[in-house]
Amino acid sequence: MTAGYRLIRPLLWLLKAESAHDLALWTLTRGLVPASGAPDDPVLAVDLWGRHFANPVGLAAGFDKDARAIGPVFGLGAGFVEVGSVTPRPQAGNPRPRLFRLSEDEAVINRMGFNNRGMAAMRERLTAWTAGGGPGVVGVNIGKNKDSKDAAADYRACTEGLADLAGYLVVNVSSPNTPGLRALQSRAALEGILGAVRRGLDAMAPDKRPPLLLKVAPDLTDSDKQDIAAVALDFPLDGLIVSNTTISRPAGLAAAHRAEAGGLSGRPLFAPSTALLGDFHDLTRGRVPLIGVGGIFSGADAYAKIRAGATLVQLYSALVYEGPGLIGRIKQDLAGLLRRDGYSRLQDAVGMDRV
Ligand SMILES: Cc1cc2nc3c(=O)[nH]c(=O)nc-3n(C[C@H](O)[C@H](O)[C@H](O)COP(=O)(O)O)c2cc1C
Repeated sequence: MTAGYRLIRPLLWLLKAESAHDLALWTLTRGLVPASGAPDDPVLAVDLWGRHFANPVGLAAGFDKDARAIGPVFGLGAGFVEVGSVTPRPQAGNPRPRLFRLSEDEAVINRMGFNNRGMAAMRERLTAWTAGGGPGVVGVNIGKNKDSKDAAADYRACTEGLADLAGYLVVNVSSPNTPGLRALQSRAALEGILGAVRRGLDAMAPDKRPPLLLKVAPDLTDSDKQDIAAVALDFPLDGLIVSNTTISRPAGLAAAHRAEAGGLSGRPLFAPSTALLGDFHDLTRGRVPLIGVGGIFSGADAYAKIRAGATLVQLYSALVYEGPGLIGRIKQDLAGLLRRDGYSRLQDAVGMDRV
């Protein structure tokens, strides 16, 4: 943690978790958080899907649901930013309180419920970002409205409304806070949803179609994993994001809020989500690019995800605990670890623990 954040954190802790989040976003959009000026170490560069990532450390979905702070998040040193989840129509999400800090566990529980301003507002923001010539890859994470009867139609609508502005497109069927959403991870349901998204993409000029990724939950049975891996290989998908928050509550959680309903993220998610990442690397025989997310707090954590099979990584909860200087520290430490082990490019280290 930087000295600055050490001073500010107790003040943020006086606020409810969601108010602190809103303040953080506001501070970023007002340009009040100093940008990290340092250029990225070339060992961190990744070329994937015809896109260049100056470094592999991205901001996970849910922090900037409405694409309000893309530039400032790149300014913190992120190699890419994922906006959303966005739904076709705006929706308010679940009643507050719906976001909880588990300080003793360095974790977060959220049951936000896809609060967002809808795809038309997202389109405006992304259009402005693109028109301004903003650098870097911006992924768009899409979901369904809570009251929608036709999930496939919602995913298709978001595809048609946003895919041309997406650096990559993520079908999110793994948030625990939209009733029935995670059931869409079964093979039949996935094929229905992805088929609808594919038809949306097929209507676009081939050179405008973004890579298509699926974001999965950590709470999967072995047969769920096999089904998802088969879909990823057969469909084929361009990538999997492993993982979303967990509905499980690992033994040993100490914080008072541990029994709140919702998805758990942060430190306790690191081990299960990294094990799942390794499973998907093996089940897809290393052929499907993976983005590793869940409980990354350090360069060593990011490196462990890469060795388990991730080509890119993302984080969210650790920023709450460590502050905005974290991304720079992770990059610096990760570059050091790669060089220590004799790698001149990150991509050579992907999955090295699984061979
Ligand atoms: C408050 C909050 C909101 C989130 N909202 C979304 C979302 O809208 N869509 C999504 O795919 N993931 C969402 N996530 C999950 C994160 O993108 C990420 O997968 C998860 O938090 C694990 O990473 P972490 O341990 O670094 O936080 C959210 C997470 C948090 C904490």
